[in-house]
Amino acid sequence: MRKTRILIFCLVAGLILHGAAVWAQRTTPMEPTEESLSCNECHAEQTTAIYQEWGKSKHHRANVGCYECHRAEEGDPDAFDHMGSLISIIVSPKDCARCHAKEVEEFDESHHAKAGLILGSLDNFLADVVEGDKNFYGGSALTVSGCKQCHGGVVKVNEDGSLEPTGWPNTGMGRLNPDGSIGACTACHQRHAFSAEQARRPENCGKCHLGPDHPQKEIYEESKHGIAYRAHEDELNLGSSKWVLGEDYTAAPTCATCHMSALRASNGELVPVTHDVGLRISWNNRPPMSIRPEVSDAKLGLDKMAQVDWKTRRKNMIQVCTVCHTSTYVDNFYEQYDGVIELYNSKFAEPALGMMKTLYSYGLITDTKFDEQVEWTWWEIWHHEGRVARHGASMMAPDYTHWHGLYEVAKHFYTKLIPELREIAEKHHHSEDAQKAEGAAKLSGALEEMLARPEHSWYTGEISLEEAEARRKAQAEFKARYGQE
Ligand code: HEC
Ligand code: HEC
Ligand code: HEC
Ligand code: HEC
Ligand code: HEC
Ligand code: HEC
Ligand code: HEC
Ligand code: HEC
Repeated sequence: MRKTRILIFCLVAGLILHGAAVWAQRTTPMEPTEESLSCNECHAEQTTAIYQEWGKSKHHRANVGCYECHRAEEGDPDAFDHMGSLISIIVSPKDCARCHAKEVEEFDESHHAKAGLILGSLDNFLADVVEGDKNFYGGSALTVSGCKQCHGGVVKVNEDGSLEPTGWPNTGMGRLNPDGSIGACTACHQRHAFSAEQARRPENCGKCHLGPDHPQKEIYEESKHGIAYRAHEDELNLGSSKWVLGEDYTAAPTCATCHMSALRASNGELVPVTHDVGLRISWNNRPPMSIRPEVSDAKLGLDKMAQVDWKTRRKNMIQVCTVCHTSTYVDNFYEQYDGVIELYNSKFAEPALGMMKTLYSYGLITDTKFDEQVEWTWWEIWHHEGRVARHGASMMAPDYTHWHGLYEVAKHFYTKLIPELREIAEKHHHSEDAQKAEGAAKLSGALEEMLARPEHSWYTGEISLEEAEARRKAQAEFKARYGQE
């Protein structure tokens, strides 16, 4: 009897303690805090727009005031005393994580979080050195206003808590914050509305995903999906609090639909929102040659994602597509897409990469990037035209796949890259430097070997009689059709 009573007592005490712990962890106040009310007193007048936008937000309704986000702890590198409260300007993912731990954890596992780590890469040499000088706080003004506004800068704090212009304003994706955390949730969630609806729109991703090297926004606009979005924007329930594809809307997908948002799969399963944009893609089309995402994730130290193979990620995406399409339609699409990747990889990227490597390893060109014409030629082929072709095929935009894509790749491959490589080989054939002469021979050999492959035979004129005859016939028909005899 006594034992039972002790047991009950322990149980009740345990429950109370547990309740208290949960209460302590509760991060959203029951009513507006005094600190936040004090901020409003000035800021309703001083920064009306901020106050108004916050006032319309879900945060306001949930009593998440200025102080709940901007509060800082003694010793925080960016903390400063502001009208009697210790605050910071930056509200980092670590601060948001007090209430949104799941989103921050997923974001941390994604390429997006690593977007600031490109600072030492080849293209940064482009912005820092080739395009830039050292006249802005000892660095390149271009890097601060260009690359880093998309990729993320380094936020530096002055003595008085104010922030240095090299790193603020900046809402780049992989921003390095004073508290040691990486990322900027404001890359997608503009302040102070912090609205999910705004983040679901394609324009949101379009701040960064556009332009000559990754025109995803333009590609989307050209595709049937972008057309459907424009036509049916009003039917998409973009303001719904849950926004589940298949339940709240079916008319068109936005970028978020395919890459992040929730869906009711055709088997009835509810697939939740993810803040890891890598979970649904099966190729990484950014390098000179496309590779599988688990390979690039491992290189970046995204250990958890390195365990998720491309097939699983493709299945994840197919769950999205099959809310609106049949599985045979989608499977055929993926075969078409893989076909373009394999074509680009094997016909152009692989041989070119091999020959470019020979140029460097045998000293046929200098180690300095971009000081020779051939380096610009190859760079634009893979970094602009080759990427555009691959991105175009991945998101159903035939103009980007072809005219802005593989057409440009082929044109510059045959009319610039090959002649430039030949010229370098000829120049060094009889070089007194044995290493260079050997490199030149190797380069010529590689060129010949590549051009002997059937896919290049049209260029050398060495096509089989059969194929030559078929082509002659086809051309005659083409001319006849357009009256150009
Ligand atoms: C006594 C009035 C007053 C109070 C109280 C007040 N602020 Fe301010 N705050 C200002 C003024 C004025 C500015 C400068 C506005 C400007 O430069 O346009 C400012 C600037 C700021 C900045 C930007 C600092 C910068 O350098 O960019 C932040 C962030 C901020 N306040 C947050 C808060 C928070 C959070 C609270 C409540 C804990 C608060 N403020 C309370 C008047 C006040
Ligand atoms: C949900 C969190 C959140 C709330 C609530 C919030 N802020 Fe902010 N605030 C931010 C973030 C995030 C930034 C941008 C800094 C960054 O990118 O890290 C910011 C930036 C600012 C800035 C500097 C921006 C500029 O344009 O100069 C001021 C000033 C500011 N907030 C004031 C306020 C005031 C006043 C309130 C209350 C009315 C408030 N904030 C409520 C998260 C919040
Ligand atoms: C003190 C807790 C707290 C902090 C800190 C906080 N939030 Fe929130 N956030 C909430 C609550 C509560 C809601 C409302 C949930 C609801 O109504 O469903 C919310 C809702 C949201 C939403 C969804 C809005 C919508 O339209 O549905 C976004 C986006 C968001 N927060 C982003 C952020 C970001 C980014 C930060 C950091 C800059 C942040 N929050 C900091 C508590 C917080
Ligand atoms: C308009 C925004 C924007 C600007 C400006 C920009 N980038 Fe990017 N960058 C992106 C986006 C978006 C991607 C990813 C594209 C994709 O997934 O296809 C990317 C990809 C990259 C990658 C490949 C990353 C990987 O995972 O392989 C590198 C490296 C890079 N950028 C470096 C730079 C440098 C250096 C600069 C400045 C010279 C720069 N970028 C300027 C938006 C930008
Ligand atoms: C690449 C853009 C992007 C970034 C970066 C981003 N979010 Fe989101 N977020 C979204 C989108 C899109 C939604 C709407 C998802 C939906 O409901 O369809 C969303 C929704 C949310 C929600 C509402 C809950 C939900 O699941 O719908 C919260 C909370 C949130 N984000 C917090 C954050 C925090 C915290 C960060 C910083 C670590 C962050 N987000 C960074 C795009 C982003
Ligand atoms: C502030 C700039 C910015 C915005 C806004 C942005 N992105 Fe990105 N995104 C990047 C950069 C930079 C990279 C390349 C990161 C890297 O690999 O280093 C990237 C990479 C990606 C990738 C490749 C992920 C992987 O694992 O390889 C996807 C998919 C993606 N973004 C989707 C989106 C979507 C969808 C949105 C909008 C909801 C969005 N992004 C908004 C900058 C941005
Ligand atoms: C209909 C669904 C769909 C829509 C809408 C969509 N995408 Fe994609 N996206 C895809 C598919 C499919 C791939 C290729 C996935 C793979 O490789 O398996 C892809 C690939 C990507 C990649 C990876 C590129 C790389 O470097 O490997 C990025 C970044 C991206 N999309 C951004 C966007 C942006 C930004 C938008 C909106 C402007 C958008 N997507 C709209 C389906 C979509
Ligand atoms: C919200 C519904 C929706 C989702 C999700 C969706 N699509 Fe579509 N898709 C459409 C609509 C609507 C069309 C236009 C149909 C037509 O041709 O009349 C379309 C057209 C297409 C086309 C034909 C393009 C053309 O130019 O003829 C392909 C291929 C395609 N989708 C593949 C996909 C793939 C792959 C996915 C997943 C990555 C996907 N779709 C996701 C609605 C969707």
